[in-house]
Amino acid sequence: MPIILAIESSCDETAASVYKAVNPNNNLENNILSNIIFSQIDLHKKFGGVIPELASKSHLEKIEPIVACALEKANVTIENIDAIAVTSKPGLPGSLLIGLSFAKALAYSNNKKLIGVNHLEGHIFSACIENNIEFPFLCLTASGGHTALYLVNNYLEYKLLGQTLDDAAGEAFDKVAKLLDLEYPGGPIIEKLAKEVDFKDFFKYKRAMKNSYDFSFSGIKTAVLYDLIKKNYYNLEKKLLNKSLSLKQEVSSSLLSAVADIFDQKLILAFKEFKEIKSVAFVGGVACNNYIRERLKESSINNNKLFFAPNKSYCTDNAAMIAFVAYHKYLDNKFSNFSLDIY
Ligand code: KG4
Ligand code: ZN
Repeated sequence: MPIILAIESSCDETAASVYKAVNPNNNLENNILSNIIFSQIDLHKKFGGVIPELASKSHLEKIEPIVACALEKANVTIENIDAIAVTSKPGLPGSLLIGLSFAKALAYSNNKKLIGVNHLEGHIFSACIENNIEFPFLCLTASGGHTALYLVNNYLEYKLLGQTLDDAAGEAFDKVAKLLDLEYPGGPIIEKLAKEVDFKDFFKYKRAMKNSYDFSFSGIKTAVLYDLIKKNYYNLEKKLLNKSLSLKQEVSSSLLSAVADIFDQKLILAFKEFKEIKSVAFVGGVACNNYIRERLKESSINNNKLFFAPNKSYCTDNAAMIAFVAYHKYLDNKFSNFSLDIY
């Protein structure tokens, strides 16, 4: 079985992973030999979002030690590696270029095969890393940059059913967190505050696009803003005027309820159309959210579907998911040449 080294640098995580499948027909036995991640969150926190120039500078500093660490942790050397995989798109251009250039140089100088992987494919199949999920399955991907629903027919074969027409779900959490003077990234702190008030839906923000597979999250962020302005809790110049904990809890909990409902509605819509589906996978950074996981699990089980969400270390950006997809590309002889680009 091939040993794959994968590199991921599409946004604000520098990551490397080594993967070796023990048994290609049983993911429960497959081996992530290492999964190393350097998160730049502390670097971007004070700006309330990712600053692309700082992100690429940090990738440049970290990529070599992170890759070295992944090899060492996996107890292999570059000679043992059969192919070098890298996230080639989509992502921040400056960040992608660091990983891609590094991977190309490493592959070229060591005479290794190169495999470009789409970051979104990485997220889609992240639920398979440690699970045997029967095809076809539904995959809901929700991260800071993307939100989409896919029908997954096989490894590397999937159909886009719908996607966000504006902001991603994670972006809605991050932007509302910024309105509320909360730290970046918004998702985890919004979940914590919502839990403190039992995930109650105080403000009943509008759930957009109920009967479509597409999503829209920019409206909900604007609804939060207008509601705060209307109540004199927020001013466009002076920003947040009411800094009470209860307001932050109530807005957080209402937002989380709305996002969970929107996701649930999409799944129910798909269950009605695709009766052959036996399982649902929920992936991406937002899939770290325990409340949404539980809501979607409950709804899946009520509709006789199995529910899978990856281990949280495979939800947020990581290189293990890139290695997993690359392994399947390797089996299909889908290699990249050195003109591989980020577009
Ligand atoms: O997948 P990811 O690491 O990066 C992208 O590809 O975008 O996702 C990051 C996103 C952020 O927007 C963050 O707020 C969100 O995932 N996130 C969460 C939680 N943890 C991270 N959203 C909701 N609840 C969480 N517990
Ligand atoms: Zn991602």
